[in-house]
Amino acid sequence: MIPKLLVFLFVTGVSTILAANVCKIGNIVHRSGNSQPYYFPNNWNENQTAPGLGRDQSCSWVFTVPHGYYAKLIISGKTGDNYSHFQTVDAAGNVVQTQHENKEPYYFPFPKFTLIVDNEAPATFGFKVIWAPFPNVQLQQGGVNIKPYRINITNSQQIIEFIAVTGVSVLAFPGDLKNYHALKSALLFDGNDMNAPFVNK
Ligand SMILES: *[C@@H]1O[C@H](CO)[C@@H](O)[C@H](O)[C@H]1NC(C)=O
Ligand SMILES: *[C@@H]1O[C@H](CO)[C@@H](O)[C@H](O)[C@H]1NC(C)=O
Ligand SMILES: *[C@@H]1O[C@H](CO)[C@@H](O)[C@H](O)[C@H]1NC(C)=O
Repeated sequence: MIPKLLVFLFVTGVSTILAANVCKIGNIVHRSGNSQPYYFPNNWNENQTAPGLGRDQSCSWVFTVPHGYYAKLIISGKTGDNYSHFQTVDAAGNVVQTQHENKEPYYFPFPKFTLIVDNEAPATFGFKVIWAPFPNVQLQQGGVNIKPYRINITNSQQIIEFIAVTGVSVLAFPGDLKNYHALKSALLFDGNDMNAPFVNK
């Protein structure tokens, strides 16, 4: 009886170590025809705790985003040291580096974004990407003024066009008002709608 138990414990221990995921550089991911989400690791989902990532990983994913669509990324994970990081690069070259992610959303427009993880110590890391057509929301117009133009996006997506010499369009997604992280849930386009060149966030 006792030897069997020891063997069982040993096997369990090994499989826990093996469960830490590995990944590779240069993944290229397109939206699937049936709009299924893309998960890493593929047996993980957002209702589970962040999965383990093995030490010394250096990985990248380029996600293409079709015209008229946006991609939404959520990451769950934490680095195990201060040298490691998660990084996103959007189509305008804006880089965001973090060491702790708790499924707060990032939004990316056409044509692509890149996700990178570089870690030394073992970490936790899982993510999900979905693609969706731009929401069909009413265009609101606002002038550029000394008074701030405020709209409430607590419950719904909004697109506002600010009229200046040329228009700037802001697509804002609902966010948590108590969390400044929500500020990044807005996409800015240099023109009259979301087909204009993407600028910044
Ligand atoms: C996660 O949980 C939510 C709320 O219970 C549920 O709607 C959703 O389908 C779950 N997602 C997955 C991938 O299981
Ligand atoms: C990261 O740096 C902070 C501040 O210097 C320190 O308190 C923390 O212990 C460091 N974390 C790790 C995992 O080394
Ligand atoms: C924004 O809308 C939400 C939901 O309708 C509401 O609870 C909140 O008070 C509104 N905030 C402001 C500043 O109007």
